Amino acid sequence: MKDIKFKYNNTLIDWDKVQDTANTLSSYRKHLSSIADGFNEKEVKYIESESSINLPFDINTYKEIKKVVEKVHTKSLKYIIIIGIGGSNLGTKAVLDGIRGTVDSFLEADTKTPKIIFAGTTSSKLLDGIRNILKENVEKPEEILVNVVSKSGTTTETMANFEIIYSFLKKHFGDSEILKNRIVITTDQESVLWDIARENKFELIAIPKNIVGRYSVFSSVGLFPLILSGVNTEQLLNGARVMRKACLKEDLLDNPALTSAVLIYLHNKKGISINNTFFFNPHIESIGKWYRQLLGESIGKKYSTDGKEVNTGITPIISIGSADLHSMTQLYLGGPKDKFTTFVYATEKSKEIIIPKNIIFPGLVDGMEGKELSSVMDAIFMGTKKAYKKNQIPFLEIILKEINEYTIGQFLQFKMIEMMYLASLFKVNAFDQPKVEDYKEETREILHKQKNNLIF
Ligand code: PA5
Repeated sequence: MKDIKFKYNNTLIDWDKVQDTANTLSSYRKHLSSIADGFNEKEVKYIESESSINLPFDINTYKEIKKVVEKVHTKSLKYIIIIGIGGSNLGTKAVLDGIRGTVDSFLEADTKTPKIIFAGTTSSKLLDGIRNILKENVEKPEEILVNVVSKSGTTTETMANFEIIYSFLKKHFGDSEILKNRIVITTDQESVLWDIARENKFELIAIPKNIVGRYSVFSSVGLFPLILSGVNTEQLLNGARVMRKACLKEDLLDNPALTSAVLIYLHNKKGISINNTFFFNPHIESIGKWYRQLLGESIGKKYSTDGKEVNTGITPIISIGSADLHSMTQLYLGGPKDKFTTFVYATEKSKEIIIPKNIIFPGLVDGMEGKELSSVMDAIFMGTKKAYKKNQIPFLEIILKEINEYTIGQFLQFKMIEMMYLASLFKVNAFDQPKVEDYKEETREILHKQKNNLIF
């Protein structure tokens, strides 16, 4: 893979040990390959939890999603409001921020690249802000599209936010068919939300049954809003396809997901319980937030797959270069040796900005005048790695040629397959999240009791 390079030479583990551990995953790797080989474009089925590895190849579903996009796209579309949380919005935000950058949301909305507004958690400040944006900038329903994304269809935050936004829109535009047509619900076909939305004649898109939130970025969950907002999803999926091929290979050095999973696992066995993904391109921080859920929810388990109480888990953290070098590096290099780091970096030569030759404060930082900003960041990145080596802090490196749809697609697919191998090593279910359900049920019960005046 020429657009993405993996370097493994600064870890604490002997290569023989890595190879031996990888060998124990041989039958699981074959299981993944059999799911890939069994994929039939004409009769797509997502039977296994791991079937998400086939999503990038599902051309027919992609075409169906595109049809809905064509149906709801208007020439005046300015804002897409995604109402969803966790696995239902983190993947979309990861891709979007990676492509558009974090200052995009400060720019005025235009119809060429509609803005995506994320209504994730419940917050009066956030919802009020969204209402104000709509009040000030939107004149007719065709300028907006609301996408409710919820696999279960019963997530409190999502449903509360939808009710607030929809009721505001009805007041603002009047309760019309046109407004109704601006709502698209993405959910499981077996959810109650699906049935109610159908009765209400809202546009519906299905999330395949066995695809859970954190593995759903290449399904309707991510694809519908990303296509609608103008992201090159074909390249995103191309990247994912190429990466899936690599991540099913037998040879360890050619299989980054397998190698990374084994390294994370073996460092954890040495007592290293924190996984630090250290991004040196600040605008891909959201990919870190997506990965935090993937690692946190997939490995953090009370029970193993054979029913033993294990209370296993790795704590994921995200760091941003160079900002966090000025806040966290003291801890990382001087504190407890409990972190395994993955550096992720793409040098930004293509969008070069040069520091002026005639600077106002010469002599304060020697040698920076006339230099490309990317060379400064390259130096910071190299300096950080040297400091890590000096302090014997283990890390692996992922170097991207540039950040675009293709490399983001590769990265996300790499991480999802890495997680499947990792869960297999830990002997835990990578696809459930029973403890998330704990809080959801408790919340619903409290709200129910409050409604019936049972608690105060
Ligand atoms: O990984 C998960 O399943 C969770 O984080 C969910 O994605 C999140 O709770 C949202 O759930 P839903 O899509 O059912 O609204």
